[in-house]
Amino acid sequence: MNKSNDVSLSSLRTRHPKVYIKTFGCQMNKADSRRLEEIFISKGYKTADMVWDADVVVFNTCSVREHAENKALSNIGSLKVLKDKNPAVRICVVGCMAQRMQKEIRTSLPHVDFVVGPSKMFELPILIERNEKGIHPDTEETVKVFYEYLPDIIDNKREYSGYVPIMKGCGNFCSYCIVPYVRGREQYRPKEEVLAECAVLAKTGINEIMLLGQTVNSHPDFKSILRETAAIKGIKRVRFVTSYPGKVDRELVDIVRDTPALCNYFHIPVQSGSDDVLKRMNRDYTTDYFMDIAMYIRKQIPAAAISSDFIAGFPGETDRDFEKTLDIVKKVRFDQSFTFKYSPRPMTRAYEWEDDVPLEVKKERLARLNEACSDAAQERNALLVGKKVEILSEGGNSGRTGEYKIVFWEGDPAEPGAEVEVDIKKALPHSLTGRRA
Ligand code: SAH
Ligand code: SF4
Ligand code: F3S
Repeated sequence: MNKSNDVSLSSLRTRHPKVYIKTFGCQMNKADSRRLEEIFISKGYKTADMVWDADVVVFNTCSVREHAENKALSNIGSLKVLKDKNPAVRICVVGCMAQRMQKEIRTSLPHVDFVVGPSKMFELPILIERNEKGIHPDTEETVKVFYEYLPDIIDNKREYSGYVPIMKGCGNFCSYCIVPYVRGREQYRPKEEVLAECAVLAKTGINEIMLLGQTVNSHPDFKSILRETAAIKGIKRVRFVTSYPGKVDRELVDIVRDTPALCNYFHIPVQSGSDDVLKRMNRDYTTDYFMDIAMYIRKQIPAAAISSDFIAGFPGETDRDFEKTLDIVKKVRFDQSFTFKYSPRPMTRAYEWEDDVPLEVKKERLARLNEACSDAAQERNALLVGKKVEILSEGGNSGRTGEYKIVFWEGDPAEPGAEVEVDIKKALPHSLTGRRA
């Protein structure tokens, strides 16, 4: 890829225009935002720290729940003030919601200049450039910018943690989920490409790799990717998210147990503790299978963190179904949990079904679930009080343990990526505090 400054944005009137990117979605979206930023930089842009400093504003959006969309929409709405003040600013909406609501955004938010879904998002700098030159985007063959170009362009970035997608999209079609519709079916990146990217990241000083995918463990070469990434010189920690529960097996747990650089951290979203609900969700594992694997993790790697996602109030969820979800929380004692009220998503199968759990009941279930999850997390975190733990600093006085627990410490701050030892003094449900050793 050409790294020279080839931007000639006449109306932006500056040799180094500034781009501001804000991310609303999941880690995959964050990874996409970073890539997009790299591509902008390779084209001569600088990054803007604040929205009003930028020549190009990019909002990378999420569609997973209605709430996520509303948040992005209201943020995009508020950019109108910016556009009114400075009509030269280019406002771009990219990502999953840009895919799903392309038409609505174009018609109801006219201050938005570009609306680009996940599959074409990396072409945005080129689309902007063409637009500035007055070339219609469709008149020339579009230059494709795919993941594989990244190793060339990433080396101007100094960060300590690298997000490396090993797959795109998802083909699982859980009945509530919009992801397959906005991101397309799953496509796996070749192992060699993944390892090459990790090696480049390691050379630039990055010591933590996060392997990403909606069902990261369904990659056909997943286990060897894990082993080989963990063996790269300079890589101290490797994580992987999100694991599909039905594809977590004992061998995977053994590999994590036996490979020091693989973090003791399993994010395995169970969604519900009721087999009836799981079936209607089109999640093809049972609660027995999930419990078996969770208990195996607890036995083989007692310190390992297990985290999960839950949906409360899925269509047809009875009180009894919900009690079973609480049971699973009480039994597994998740270290961290992400809980959501069911939100009907257009295009999905469950959208056709009646959203029959009343909002009040959803709210009440969510509150009870949060309480149970909080108790479990607090109890798990309390096991670390009085211990010395190794933290990878996020910069300043905070960082994460290998189990992905966030720790705030008193004492000297540390550079991002530095390893710090902290004596843990206090446990809270969502964090720990201590003193730098
Ligand atoms: N690929 C991951 C999940 C990605 S979406 C997996 O299969 O586990 C992240 C979380 O959002 C999901 O785990 C689920 O708990 C939640 N979620 C997805 N769609 C939802 C919906 N329609 N309503 C409420 N929560 C939803
Ligand atoms: Fe959505 Fe299911 Fe795919 Fe996860 S596995 S992204 S919940 S369809
Ligand atoms: Fe991620 Fe949201 Fe898209 S969860 S894949 S950004 S719909």
